[in-house]
Formats: sequence, C-alpha cells, structure tokens
Amino acid sequence: MSEMNKENILEVRHVHKRFTSKGITVKAVTDVSFEVKPGETIGIVGESGCGKTTLGRCIVRAYEASEGEVWYRTEAGEEVDFLKVDRKKMKSIRKEIQMIFQDPYSSLDPRMTVLDIIKEPLKANYPDMSKEEMDQRAKDMAVKVGLNPMYLMRYPHAFSGGQRQRIGIARALVVRPQIIVCDEAVSALDVSIQAQVINLLRDLQKEFGLTYLFISHDLSVVEHISDKVGVMYLGQMVEFCETEKLYSQPMHPYTEALLSAVPVADPTYKMERIPLQGEIPNPANPPSGCFFHERCRYCTEKCVTEAPHLKTMPDGRLCACHRAEELNLQGFDLKAMAESSKNKNAV
Ligand SMILES: Nc1ncnc2c1ncn2[C@@H]1O[C@H](COP(=O)(O)OP(=O)(O)OP(=O)(O)O)[C@@H](O)[C@H]1O
Ligand code: SF4
Ligand SMILES: [Mg+2]
Repeated sequence: MSEMNKENILEVRHVHKRFTSKGITVKAVTDVSFEVKPGETIGIVGESGCGKTTLGRCIVRAYEASEGEVWYRTEAGEEVDFLKVDRKKMKSIRKEIQMIFQDPYSSLDPRMTVLDIIKEPLKANYPDMSKEEMDQRAKDMAVKVGLNPMYLMRYPHAFSGGQRQRIGIARALVVRPQIIVCDEAVSALDVSIQAQVINLLRDLQKEFGLTYLFISHDLSVVEHISDKVGVMYLGQMVEFCETEKLYSQPMHPYTEALLSAVPVADPTYKMERIPLQGEIPNPANPPSGCFFHERCRYCTEKCVTEAPHLKTMPDGRLCACHRAEELNLQGFDLKAMAESSKNKNAV
C-alpha cells in the first residue's frame, strides 16, 4: 500500500486481532491505528483485558494479526510492512523490534546463566558471530543496565525483581533494536525500584536513540515517561494524543473516568471521581454502537446504535466519541500528579 510519512518510524494501520476457540470469537484488538516518530515514547493505557498486550504482541509479530499493517522504517531506511515481510527479510530485521515482558520471574529461563540469557538473542540473530564477541557484547550490555559483571554466571533466581528486569532489558537491547515494546515492564516492581528502572529506560533511550511503546495500566507511570498516549477500551483505541493534552484536557469520556481514578497523595487536591458504572463488557459479545455506552454518563440515543470512529479533532488529536467536541471534560492537574509521585517515591 501507500508509502510511510517520512517523519515516522512506525505506522500501525487498522490492526485487528481475533481469537477463536470453541466457536467463540473474542475481538481482542479492533481496527487500531496510530503513528510513531523515532525516539518517541508512546504510552498505551486502559483497563485489564482491553487488548494492550495483544496489540503489542501483534506489532512485534509474536502474534499474527488477523488484519492490518504495521509499516516500519528499517535501520537501513527501507519501508516494510512488518506483518508481511518474507522469512528471509524477517531474519535480517527481526532484531530491530524487541519486547520486554511484564513478569521478570517467568520470562527468564531458570536453567540458564544470566550471561547465556543475555547472549541468546545474539546467537539467534548473528549466527556467524564468534563466542568471544558475543560474550563481550553481553557483558558490555549487562554493565550498561547496571548489573554486576561478576554475577553473570549465576542463575536468575539469585537476583531481585528489579535486577531481573534489568536482565530482561539487557537481553532485549543486546541486538541493538530500534523499537522496544515494554509490556507492563515495571508493574510488578516496588515503587522505588520502579523509578530506578524507568530512569534506566530513559537513559538507554537517549544513548541508543530508542523508540518505546510503553504498555501499562498505571497512568502516573505513563504520564511520567510518554510523549504521547493511546487509550484503549475493549480492543479499540478511543483517544490518542500528546501526553500533556490528554491528561489536562481529555476529550473521551473513558479517558476522563480513568484519570479521575488516579490516586493523588495531596489531600488538598480536589478532583471529582467519576465511577465507571458496571463491568467491562465481554469482548466476545460487545455492546452495540459505542462500546463504552453502557458505562458512559454522557450516553445519548445515537451512542447506543451508531459506532463512533476515531476522528482527527480540531486540535489534531484522535478521538472516537460522538460528543467529543461538545463535552467539556474534567482533566488532571499535572502539577498535583508530580507532587504525588514525588511523595510516593519518598516513601
Ligand atoms: N491467547 C489468547 N487466546 C484467547 N483470548 C485471548 C488471548 N490473549 C488475550 N485474549 C483475550 O483478549 C482480550 C485482550 O487481552 P490482553 O491480554 O491483550 O489485554 P491487556 O489489556 O493486556 O490486559 P492486562 O492489563 O490484564 O494485561 C481479553 O479479553 C483476553 O481474554
Ligand atoms: S460516543 Fe457516546 S457513549 Fe461513547 S463515549 Fe461518546 S458520549 Fe459516551
Ligand atoms: Mg497485558
């Protein structure tokens, strides 16, 4: 299809992922599109089950998307649909897009030494590289992520959660990728360790010019690290724009409700809580019209019958709500959030 915008490194176009088992089809991701510039961090947020992980996995091709395209500008400057490249091409560019997983406990093989874990992607991607060079590269990367090189012959169980996540980061970075999908990369860690790992990710981003897709259900963490944020609901992207704009002036009622539930430590800070009514609907049997209508306090008749599409708003953001332009929604005071996270980190 058409060429990419010259400014972008990644263009996700109309990606769908359906899982079918025993005759039931779950639409985990429906028609998601967004664009990413090199060096950006894109946060992806939404409640559990909204399709964040599935989307991330489709982008790195750990899952085959049911439909859609993921245009990617390779390091060599070629534009490819990452979902359709042939095996030979895939072999040469696979290393350029890596994923870091949520659980540093289960994603590392307990029978392998840390050195071998970090080296493994080199073995897979550089069959001609000498053992000495692999060892050297793995050790260099281990040092860069803050691991003690004396401990690399140990097994993962000897390391703390934060250190294990550093091992996961070293393993992803050792092949010098361009794009990293971080799936809840800090969610399992204590708050103080979280901050250290986020700072590490930022430093590495600067040093290697990395582009991040940062998947998380934690809106404070995402606000901290992301240039732009995409909000997902029941497999769809419902809002996508610059972080500050999204948090201070949300245009989608679901974004407004999510923001109102972010805990703030400052007792003087007043914000109306907007409870999300009811349960998240079953993605195998989504509601008619707007998928959010049963839980939305601004729902009208049109919302029940007609599905809103993701449209470009006058300020340039993407939003999928019939009433986006007429509603004046409650945003988040970013200063209060900064104070709150300072307090959180001080604990
Ligand atoms: N391998 C699979 N087979 C069948 N259904 C799946 C599979 N993986 C995910 N799903 C379903 O797809 C939907 C999206 O799940 P996904 O794990 O992508 O959500 P998520 O936003 O990452 O949630 P969480 O915040 O809990 O990690 C859910 O309804 C889930 O049950
Ligand atoms: S389209 Fe209607 S139901 Fe959906 S978010 Fe907008 S106002 Fe709410
Ligand atoms: Mg997930």
